[in-house]
Amino acid sequence: MDTRPFLIVAIDGGAASGKSSTARALSARFNLLHVDTGSFYRAVTAVLLRRGVAAHDPARIEAEVGGLRLGTRITGRSAGMEINGEVIPDAEIRGAAVNGAVSHVAALPAVRAALLAYQRGQEGVARAGGFRGLVMEGRDIGSVIFPGAACRFFLHADPAERARRRALEGGQDAIALRDQLDSSRKAAPLACPPGAVAVDTTHQGLDEVVALLSGIIAGQLGE
Ligand code: DC
Repeated sequence: MDTRPFLIVAIDGGAASGKSSTARALSARFNLLHVDTGSFYRAVTAVLLRRGVAAHDPARIEAEVGGLRLGTRITGRSAGMEINGEVIPDAEIRGAAVNGAVSHVAALPAVRAALLAYQRGQEGVARAGGFRGLVMEGRDIGSVIFPGAACRFFLHADPAERARRRALEGGQDAIALRDQLDSSRKAAPLACPPGAVAVDTTHQGLDEVVALLSGIIAGQLGE
């Protein structure tokens, strides 16, 4: 049992800004539960699509989302969302259909409200799992989910560099369009929250970014 203070690290940023790789590295370094909230919006979107619900049908989405039974399954150091007992396969949540629909689903206040308590509940999941804290990545973690987090970061990079990274991963994701939708929506738009540390990752490798954030986190921990 770890008796040191529980640490919450919030990482926000656009698609392919380097959030996931950075969060995974910090998770390993500081024994934090890794929580990728984009995967939660993706899982919910995948289930809606399976049920034949259109991304542009807010009333239907609202009705369906309220009835989903959400749980968490920890694999390694990562929290995966269970919906009605199932973890939706990665290939499905990262496929073209979900890529095209997820920003529309995530823009709906009813969906965000349904996931708010679930996301905050990851703190209890991490504590119960014996983690020293959690590192949560998304679009509104430092602004809405955990505005009081000890460490809040906002990663950004030039659009061309982000497109290059996504292509290297084999992704076919229209990240510029998704960012535009995520930044212009009314509910919790993508933006650097006041007081967060903004990091431009365009010309920095993963190791450099991780070293920078690790230094700040270690400073917070007094290490
Ligand atoms: O991080 P990602 O690209 O997997 O996120 C998928 C979508 O989910 C993205 O278009 C925006 C949305 N999202 C959000 O609105 N809020 C979050 N905290 C995380 C993701």
